[in-house]
Amino acid sequence: MKLLILNGPNLNMLGVREPAIYGRQDFKALEAFIRETCAAEGIECELFQSNHEGALVDKIQEAWGVFDGIVINPAAYTHTSVAILDALKAVSIPTVEVHLSDVSRREDFRQVSYAGMACLKTYMGLGFEGYRRAILFLKEYLEGRDA
Ligand code: DQA
Repeated sequence: MKLLILNGPNLNMLGVREPAIYGRQDFKALEAFIRETCAAEGIECELFQSNHEGALVDKIQEAWGVFDGIVINPAAYTHTSVAILDALKAVSIPTVEVHLSDVSRREDFRQVSYAGMACLKTYMGLGFEGYRRAILFLKEYLEGRDA
């Protein structure tokens, strides 16, 4: 089982960026957490972070026929990007959305998730744990589907 883990803009600034909202652990720690989670579950993973919408779209397109599932935190593009939504729909790879913070309790402009419209599930407000839940959910979903 191969999962692609995508992180959008400014998530590389974790640890520095608004620690009251996103915590004090940095992006390297998040990447290590994701890699450890996948290794413990016997899942192969590739991690990709970009501050550029088109780079995320390219990566989603390239995932077609290569990855079984996608975990995505589109960050600010969550609330603006029809291009990311369309890319997820184009490849139709089972995808789970993650947000570190609880976006449902934040500003009005964060209340729409375009990417989320192409996702099986969303985890928010759980910090790093949201990524673990997303990975476990996809594992169970993909194993069930292939059984
Ligand atoms: C975020 C929430 C988004 O609204 C925000 O733009 C981010 C991070 C989160 O993980 O909580 O950059 O996706």
